[in-house]
Amino acid sequence: MPLVYRPACADDLAATDALVVASINDLTVRHGFGAMATASPPGFQLFSLKDDPDGLWVAEDEGEILGFAWSWVCGDVWFLAQLFVDPARQGQGIGNELLERTMEHARKSGAAHKALITFTFNRVSQGLYMRHGLFPKMPIYFFNVERERIKQTLPEPQLRAIAIDNGAATMENLVDIDSRAIGVSREKHHRYLLDDPVITGILLHAGNDIVGYGYIGSNGHIGPLAVTRPDLLRDAFATMLKLATDGSAEKISAFLPGTCDSALSLAINQGMRITFPMLLMASPGYGDWTQYLPRNPGFM
Ligand SMILES: CC(C)(COP(=O)(O)OP(=O)(O)OC[C@H]1O[C@@H](n2cnc3c(N)ncnc32)[C@H](O)[C@@H]1OP(=O)(O)O)[C@@H](O)C(=O)NCCC(=O)NCCS
Repeated sequence: MPLVYRPACADDLAATDALVVASINDLTVRHGFGAMATASPPGFQLFSLKDDPDGLWVAEDEGEILGFAWSWVCGDVWFLAQLFVDPARQGQGIGNELLERTMEHARKSGAAHKALITFTFNRVSQGLYMRHGLFPKMPIYFFNVERERIKQTLPEPQLRAIAIDNGAATMENLVDIDSRAIGVSREKHHRYLLDDPVITGILLHAGNDIVGYGYIGSNGHIGPLAVTRPDLLRDAFATMLKLATDGSAEKISAFLPGTCDSALSLAINQGMRITFPMLLMASPGYGDWTQYLPRNPGFM
């Protein structure tokens, strides 16, 4: 029987997560980085599926899922959150077929910009994305460090951190910050994050002005983070690092774009280590992030 490409359903998402974990670890082990991924409940996948089912596709062979593609849209930005093929079946055109279907999702939604985050060391994915009009834009480094190591030397934060509430005025602030930082509102994604009990959202204030936001997980992971001006990014990251060091997570981590010099310098000076080099790829004209730290390669 030929391979079937079909829209994903909720019941597929545990199997697609297992496939993604296996595919990531096959890649990262092959390139000497060790295993990177562990299984997790597919909460954001499920949220995206309910929000816009056109973005999630599986490749299936006699009931076995061999590939998965997942994209979401906010305003005029389309983002490819995942594209993974079973290691035993790579290089046979499955990834390309799945990508065609998610690209159709971008066309149907009228997106003006397309973007994704992939592994710097994966030649296959980068070549495939270039074939589809997405080009390397900038490196994004995954940094982490033992919390105990950072605690001693961190400068006092310049911004005031206040927990995000669920009010309409706060949501307007978040939408405004995102519009300035990444050119689009991510209101629905803030609602998703704010519903997650292991993530805390913070509004960052300079005096009486709200100048940014950041999220921190109970696992010590910082992001997404966004500010209204590029010169605020270092202070915003420093403030979130201070919150993280005051917490109890063993490790602290964040994704830092190569264009965010001041945050990169702070991370390095605090002893944070580059663990995985990633890459933002985008359609021409999108992705000059100097006011934004993504959460991870799927959430952006
Ligand atoms: C990336 C991935 C999804 C691609 O799926 P796939 O089924 O293996 O890819 P396909 O066979 O459809 O297409 C491969 C294409 O990549 C491109 N490619 C492969 N190697 C390349 C290279 N060294 N340089 C440039 N382009 C290259 C070619 O266009 C090739 O097509 P062709 O062989 O017909 O010329 C899959 O390999 C995978 O899961 N990799 C590991 C995880 C990963 O990195 N996923 C992407 C996360 S964003």
